This record gives sequence, C-alpha cells and structure tokens, in this order.
Amino acid sequence: MKPSLKYKRILLKLSGEALMGAKDFGIDSATVDFIAKEIKKVVNMGAEVAVVIGGGNIFRGVEASVKGMERASADYMGMLATVINALALQNSLEKNNVPTRVQSAIDMREIAEPYIRRKAMRHLEKDRVVIFAAGTGNPYFTTDTAAALRAMEIGAEVIIKATKVDGVYSADPVKDPNAKKYDTISYMDVLRKGLNVMDSTAISLCMDNNLPIVVVNLRGKDNIKNVARGKKIGTIVGGHNGERAKKKGR
Ligand code: GTP
Repeated sequence: MKPSLKYKRILLKLSGEALMGAKDFGIDSATVDFIAKEIKKVVNMGAEVAVVIGGGNIFRGVEASVKGMERASADYMGMLATVINALALQNSLEKNNVPTRVQSAIDMREIAEPYIRRKAMRHLEKDRVVIFAAGTGNPYFTTDTAAALRAMEIGAEVIIKATKVDGVYSADPVKDPNAKKYDTISYMDVLRKGLNVMDSTAISLCMDNNLPIVVVNLRGKDNIKNVARGKKIGTIVGGHNGERAKKKGR
C-alpha cells in the first residue's frame, strides 16, 4: 500500500442525481467527466476503486410506486436506470484512460459482465475500476444497500458516499439555519435521529460489519482523493463516536 493512503480499497457510492449536474433529468457529460477525473486521481494514488451508482436521474422506483405503480416493477425499472448510468461512467473513465469493468447484478451478458465476486476482486487487484450495476438485483433494496453489500463482499475499507451536500447535518441546512454539521457520528445516532445518510438497511449492514461511511460533497475538487488519504472532511459515520471502526473479519 502506498503510505499516503488511509484506505486502499474503496467503495464509492454515487447517486444517480450526481450525474445530472445542473440538469433536471438524465446525464450531463461534463459532470460525468468531472467524476471520472476525480476517480482517476485516487486510482493513480494506488487505491482500488469500486463504484455503485443509483438511477434516480432517470427513474425513481420509490416515487413511481407511490404514484400507483407496482413496487417490484418500479424497482426493476430503477435497476435498469443504474445500468445506463454505469455505462456512461465507464465511457467517461475509459476516455480518461482508466480501465473499467461493469458488472451487473441482473444478467445481461451482451451489455455487461455478470456480477461475480471473485472476478470483481481480481479486476480491482489489476487496478481496474469496477462499476456494480443493477443494485442488488432485487426489488425493495436501494442502491445504498447494494453499496453496503458489495463493499462487504469485496472487503472495502470504507464507503465514500459522494452527494450534493458536504456532510451529515442535524436538519436540512437549507431550511434550518441552526442545522449543525457533524464531523463524526455513530451509526446508532444516524438511525435514532433518522438522519438522511443512507437507508436503515444499509446503515445497519455497515454497523454490523464495522464499515465506516464517509459522506462528502461530490462537487468538491479532490474530495474523494482527500478522503482516501485520511483527511478529515465531510462526515464520518462509524463506531461509538464516529471514529473509524476496526476492520474485523475481512
Ligand atoms: P482478465 O481475466 O484479467 O484478463 O480480465 P478481462 O476482464 O480483461 O478478461 P475477459 O476476457 O473476461 O474480458 C474481456 C472483456 O470482455 C472485458 O471488457 C470484459 O468486461 C468483457 N466481458 C467479459 N465477460 C463478459 C460478459 O459476460 N458480458 C459482456 N458484455 N462483457 C464481458
């Protein structure tokens, strides 16, 4: 491991909305290119990077089900949206000369490799970015849960959740001027206070396996790189006091 890295193997969680840039829908190529370049920086530092992308910029399964669509069908449509995003990110990464493999949790061999854990790990060892598409392949599970699951499976040391905000706040900072940003917070507090970090299934999975989550603003230059180097930015969700949990059993 290069000495400058705190985390060698990283699972990066990107929301689908992250790819929209300033648009209301779809994929903004300049934004995807920016993300690809940010990923390239950590790869060049010697980190092994896997990515899980959401699909909310194209289709939001939960919203569609609230409006009357059957939840399972709506979720499958959301999973297909993540495949579109995965291919867009792969394209941008490869334009930036970063070798990339897409693995899909739903078999679609003409488009992507199937998800095979050991193959994903080999790709990472060969410095390829692995993009996990189609969530967990199951309805009722979010892409946050897919990120937590895949992180555990590949032995990632951290989940970096790159979002539109620069960390976890006690309330919505746009609406509440007294909202306080946490530098560190425990999984339990996230669950107890109902904070909007990841859904409770994903948080519980990370808590049970002592996997730290770092929430940072995706748009911040060098944010992903700085987390990988151990710089204290954003919010760290971890053990009792939010400090990095001990790596156990991996
Ligand atoms: P090594 O085994 O380390 O050589 O990895 P590799 O991924 O380069 O080898 P492989 O021959 O498996 O893959 C070559 C290319 O085909 C890569 O771009 C893979 O992503 C792609 N590929 C492999 N399996 C599948 C598949 O089932 N479906 C699709 N669509 N592409 C695949």
